[in-house]
Formats: sequence, structure tokens, C-alpha cells
Amino acid sequence: MAEHAIGLTVNGQAVSASVEPRLTLADFLRQRLRLTGTHVGCEHGVCGACTVLMADGDNPVQAVRACLMFAVQADGARLTTVEGLSPEGELNDLQRAFQRHHALQCGFCTPGMLATATALLAANPRPSADEVREAISGNLCRCTGYVPIVEAILDAAERGR
Ligand code: FES
Ligand code: FES
Repeated sequence: MAEHAIGLTVNGQAVSASVEPRLTLADFLRQRLRLTGTHVGCEHGVCGACTVLMADGDNPVQAVRACLMFAVQADGARLTTVEGLSPEGELNDLQRAFQRHHALQCGFCTPGMLATATALLAANPRPSADEVREAISGNLCRCTGYVPIVEAILDAAERGR
């Protein structure tokens, strides 16, 4: 299959690659860039494990499903994966709140939860508990530990004021 040249920014680094049009963004991140913090669960847009942050042109940062996008569709975009949330290798405020509230158990959903919560707090810095629950309703935690996750996001919002 013919490959396509793409250029994008991932975690602040310019990336150029040649990709088959059928390569998903999730597989591109994990297999080509070795950014394996982006997890793959259902591979059809249901679980949210693959959620990453994407900004394109003047559009604000959005949480997107990397399993539902092809890598070619990210051409020109600015992506942030969990590896890029805290460029200095330190936990950021949201990650610290997850740590404080024990908001991760097995951790499989955590990168997607962090991406979704980051997009939420960027758009709505003072969400209510219901708004947090609504925002993460597309991110499934198989360990069913949603209470501490909601508390962590609300705590991060509170401290970010
Ligand atoms: S792996 Fe993408 S939503 Fe489940
Ligand atoms: S912490 Fe186990 S799936 Fe979320």
C-alpha cells in the first residue's frame, strides 16, 4: 500500500514519518514512536484507554481517541501523550492529585483519564462533580475505582484556582 508523508508535533518534538493510510494513530504512537503510555483496549472507541490530546491550527486542545484516528489524519497536528504531560519528568498537578487520592489501581485507564481530565480542565477550570463524571464517562476503569478519580480531578481543579 502506498505510504504518505506526515509531519506533526508530538510532546513538543517535530516528527516526520511515512505511514500507510490504514495505520491508526494509536499504533503509530506506540509502535513507531515507542510512546507506549498510550494504551489500547477495545480498539473501537469505547474504552478511552487510547485518549490523547490534540490541537490543530487555532482549535483548542481536545481529547481524541487514538484508536479511531488514522495517523495521516494527525498530519500537521500538535499531540500530547501521557509522556508529554510533564516534560521535566516530574508529575504535574493533575498527576499529583491522582497520586494523593489513590486514583489509579492497575493504571491501565490512567493515561486516557489524565488526557480527558486535562482537556476538561482546560475548557472548564471549575467543573462540578457531575461535570467531571460526565467528562470521564467515556473512559472505562476496569477496576471500577471512579470515586477517587473524580476526587482527584476536583482536587486538581481546586488547587489550580
Ligand atoms: S482503545 Fe481506543 S477507545 Fe478503547
Ligand atoms: S485503574 Fe485499573 S482500569 Fe483504571
